[in-house]
Amino acid sequence: MKVNKKFIVIIMLVAIISISASFTLKDSSPPHYENLKVLPKNISSKELQGIMVDDFQDGLGVTCNFCHATAKNGHGLDFVSDAKPEKEISRAMMRMTIGINKRYFKLKHPQIGNSNLTVTCNTCHRGEAFPDGIEGQK
Ligand code: HEC
Ligand code: HEC
Repeated sequence: MKVNKKFIVIIMLVAIISISASFTLKDSSPPHYENLKVLPKNISSKELQGIMVDDFQDGLGVTCNFCHATAKNGHGLDFVSDAKPEKEISRAMMRMTIGINKRYFKLKHPQIGNSNLTVTCNTCHRGEAFPDGIEGQK
């Protein structure tokens, strides 16, 4: 009888610990981005940062504030805001880039940041925001 009681207590403890562990895991991931319309909503912060830095910042030769507006309190950038038109233009460019890969290069589920994309921002932009290089547009 004694052994049985101990056994039940241990089982209950294990159950409680694993249930609370699954709750903590749910709370910590995925990150809570608020305004993603093209990228997957459950994207990891590592993937999102990679796209913002490698594809967008380096691909266009700009910094974050080219697309992201200054925060209302004047400190840093408001990444959620759509106040700068460059952000919405970028969404159109993202949809176009996905479309080109799907339609002309027959990729199954192309997504910005995938390493197997045939056409990326950099294919056209080559480190410049205005890839056609027409003077006066800069
Ligand atoms: C060429 C434009 C462009 C540049 C440069 C850029 N971003 Fe973005 N960023 C976007 C777009 C567009 C989205 C929204 C994507 C979507 O709707 O799926 C976004 C979304 C984000 C988000 C998610 C915000 C939210 O909660 O919805 C973060 C964070 C972010 N960017 C950080 C950065 C950082 C940090 C940099 C600089 C290293 C940067 N971005 C540079 C265009 C840009
Ligand atoms: C097929 C070629 C091509 C691809 C791929 C492409 N772009 Fe563009 N993009 C252009 C051209 C050309 C322009 C210039 C249009 C103009 O000057 O009117 C441009 C302009 C832009 C501008 C506007 C600059 C401004 O302020 O007028 C942004 C922002 C931009 N692209 C972001 C992106 C992002 C982000 C990606 C990748 C998701 C991307 N583009 C992929 C061809 C491309």
